[in-house]
Amino acid sequence: METTGLEIVRTVAALRDQVGEWRRDGQTVALVPTMGALHEGHLSLMRQGHEICDRVCATIFVNPKQFAPSEDFETYPRGEGEDVAKLIAEGVDLLFAPDVSVMYPDNFATTVSVTGVSDGLCGAARPGFFDGVATVVSKLLLQALPDVAIFGEKDYQQLLVIRQAAQDLNIPVDVVGGPTVREADGLALSSRNAYLNEAERQQAAAIIDALGTAAANIATRRGTAKGEIAAAVQKLNDAGFTNIDYLELCDAETLVPVDDVTRPARLLVAAWLGETRLIDNIAVVATTQTK
Ligand code: PAJ
Repeated sequence: METTGLEIVRTVAALRDQVGEWRRDGQTVALVPTMGALHEGHLSLMRQGHEICDRVCATIFVNPKQFAPSEDFETYPRGEGEDVAKLIAEGVDLLFAPDVSVMYPDNFATTVSVTGVSDGLCGAARPGFFDGVATVVSKLLLQALPDVAIFGEKDYQQLLVIRQAAQDLNIPVDVVGGPTVREADGLALSSRNAYLNEAERQQAAAIIDALGTAAANIATRRGTAKGEIAAAVQKLNDAGFTNIDYLELCDAETLVPVDDVTRPARLLVAAWLGETRLIDNIAVVATTQTK
């Protein structure tokens, strides 16, 4: 059995063989699905995988089914060489990097579609997106059959959609969330940040500023959700955001919109800077009222 080094596999059989061998050996395996263009956010999930499991398997697959025809599938950043170097530096054990024809052969005909948590927010703004995500992630979980699979809270709705699909389909994998990794000014790391020009990059920090202030005021009930959301939207407009798909306070488990924080909630946003769509979210948990 190999103990060091990154093995790269491109077929489902080779992936299954390696993960199965580790698990038969009594070793636990964490799967970290990605679309590549790896940054510190992705790598933090690899590290989390090492903390909770004996082996870490990353996947890199730019999934055509989660891009609308108008979106950036063709131009999405790709660079396997650089990604592999980063995975080796993190001590990742296995990389599954399949071709589109392996994931979606010509006669492929199945879609995994989750209702409820996928309905609002990005589900409303990007029709078909979560079907694409749920389909590819269900396949990856069933192909690898790891002990746990780790997804970033940066894509909070995606994490809940995947958790629901895994539960409903009885996929025997623990779906675990990892905290959002941010730049020094608070901008959440994202492969799409590469699209921002210098001016937009400066403006982008307004997202976490607006979310953070609103979340703190709602949590302490210094302001109402409605008032704080309006103020946050104003801040984004003032900072130069060109369009806001949504800025909503939702129940942290169901993503049903709420206007008070009697239960753990989440403030979620998707907003555009020119051609680039950025998303972010933050926990809102009521603290004891101080006034
Ligand atoms: P991708 O955008 O490459 O992200 C892969 C994983 O990294 C996701 O779980 C995402 O939430 C996490 N991630 C991204 N930025 C992060 C950050 N700043 N901090 C912490 N985690 C971060 O999300 C996808 O790919 C795809 O939809 C995928 C799940 C792979 C299905 O195709």
